[in-house]
Amino acid sequence: MAGLVPVMTRERTSPRIPHSLRSCYHPGMKPLDSLEMPRPAGASDPIIAVSGLSKTYASGFQALKKVDLEIRRGEIFALLGPNGAGKTTLISIICGIVNPSTGTVTADRHDIIRDYRSARTKIGLVPQELTTDAFESVWATVTFSRGLFGNPAYLEKILKDLSLWEKRDSKIMTLSGGMKRRIMIAKALSHEPKILFLDEPRPRVSTSSCGGTCGTWSVVCGRAASRSS
Ligand SMILES: Nc1ncnc2c1ncn2[C@@H]1O[C@H](COP(=O)(O)OP(=O)(O)OP(=O)(O)O)[C@@H](O)[C@H]1O
Ligand SMILES: [Mg+2]
Repeated sequence: MAGLVPVMTRERTSPRIPHSLRSCYHPGMKPLDSLEMPRPAGASDPIIAVSGLSKTYASGFQALKKVDLEIRRGEIFALLGPNGAGKTTLISIICGIVNPSTGTVTADRHDIIRDYRSARTKIGLVPQELTTDAFESVWATVTFSRGLFGNPAYLEKILKDLSLWEKRDSKIMTLSGGMKRRIMIAKALSHEPKILFLDEPRPRVSTSSCGGTCGTWSVVCGRAASRSS
């Protein structure tokens, strides 16, 4: 079975978002296998390195088959594929939520198994499914993610950038779907990770307001720019 096919490689020229954007797509692949991206010139030290990664669930279903992938520092990487291709499985393994069957992964040089504590501090995840307590306030859930209630000024900036500051005392259940999605982004950014995963980033984030897609992506890309050295 053929591997994922890169469909776009683009160097961004905006000085505010100095990242390259790569994406890869395979229209009919199942399971996600043999993901072999061309190695970018000068990419000696990837922020994410996946080697020979396979996953067979307890049911016997093989979701990933020998995936090899490197993502550069400062790069915005889009992984496209049909439902069930294994995208969430791959992300979940890198984030330490799902155990791999075989293969290795490093995040910012930390092995996700042997050195899992360090690896996880480097990663923020906006999951595909919303996983917040509906009765909690916005401020409570974001500060909980931050862990120590430390650096409230940083959290305040994140919530303001995501147009959530006015809602900080509101219960999550009273917010709109797009606002809930942006809370997940705020939580994922709360510990200032070097790596940010957005599993299905587009659903429910509208394009119409300053807090919608444009504003949200500015925040995400801005954080990436400041953390990707
Ligand atoms: N816990 C599990 N046990 C057994 N099979 C699973 C489990 N989780 C996922 N799968 C299967 O693994 C395959 C890949 O699922 P995954 O969620 O990674 O796909 P995806 O690419 O993220 O899909 P989508 O675009 O729909 O989010 C699917 O066939 C799914 O049914
Ligand atoms: Mg998924």
